[in-house]
Amino acid sequence: MANIKIELSANLKEKPADESKLSFGDLFTDHMFIMNYTEGQGWHDPRIVPYGPISLDPAAMILHYGQEVFEGMKAYRAEDGRVLLFRPQENFKRLNRSNDRVCIPQVDEALALEALEELVRIEKDWIPHAKDTSLYIRPFVIATGPHLGVRPASEYLFMIILSPVGPYYPEGLDPVKIYVETNYVRTVKGGTGMAKTGGNYAASLKAQAEAKEKQYTQVLWLDGVERRYIEEVGTMNVFFQIGDEIVTPSLDTGSILPGITRMSTIEMLRSWGLPVVERRLSIDEVAEAYDNGTLKEVFGTGTAAVISPVGHLKWGEKIMNINDGKIGALSQKLYDTLTGIQWGKIEDPFGWVVEVK
Ligand code: COI
Repeated sequence: MANIKIELSANLKEKPADESKLSFGDLFTDHMFIMNYTEGQGWHDPRIVPYGPISLDPAAMILHYGQEVFEGMKAYRAEDGRVLLFRPQENFKRLNRSNDRVCIPQVDEALALEALEELVRIEKDWIPHAKDTSLYIRPFVIATGPHLGVRPASEYLFMIILSPVGPYYPEGLDPVKIYVETNYVRTVKGGTGMAKTGGNYAASLKAQAEAKEKQYTQVLWLDGVERRYIEEVGTMNVFFQIGDEIVTPSLDTGSILPGITRMSTIEMLRSWGLPVVERRLSIDEVAEAYDNGTLKEVFGTGTAAVISPVGHLKWGEKIMNINDGKIGALSQKLYDTLTGIQWGKIEDPFGWVVEVK
């Protein structure tokens, strides 16, 4: 048991009156976890304190060179009152892989999980009850050491904040319209795509904004070298059902985020006896499959939206209307099963769920 100091807030905020109107990521709970790193001393002073602003030196390296990583996970309220997390160990493993990529010191994964569980326990009344709502968990690390030369910082903060959320996309499970991006790229082979680091998301904003102007929800990212091979959809991993096979881009270029929902989707599909292939997949092949009638379903996977069906793809002048713009049977089954396990409605044969007691 780590020595986590707890300072409770004297001014608790009002909880949302109508949980069915919760948006994504606008509201925060009463407390947060925070821990410092100092070179020579390591991580120290783990504590839970009232939620609020932090003070930073204007020369803090996060503000100049973007040295940071983050994670995204959720706490779910089961009908019987249990509080459930979904594969949280995987998130902290990935946090450390991201840390390694941007030269941030490794975090003790067991301590991080213990801190998270303690924070969720304190904030459990913030976990919403309404259908499709949950408590989004955002662990992150920022470089706080003040310095203007380009090198890894010597001081960091690791924090966890919590946000009660509704659906990520206003469309919910309705299929989204996606613009195949041929101008901007998110990252490249050898870049930081495999790390959950803020710069990847900053790099995505312009494409997303232009897609929005054209009435598209998000973009489909192609590889940065040949602009042919599919990488991700918006902030999610992406799957294509072509004929009887389900194809998702392989992770070996290092430019794709290894999603926990991606991994779970692959394991679940295989447990159903369906063939899943991780390989390079070009947009030309997708268009060809569309033309010959074998492109059945396309969907994104992520923590925030879980499964997000794609109903419409625009690649240059070519328009692909997938499954008549309706949710496909496979997307629906994956969504129902994954969310069923996450909300404790159905049995978890994989041992993915961790109860916060
Ligand atoms: C996800 O969970 O799909 C994300 O990565 C979204 C997050 C950046 C808000």
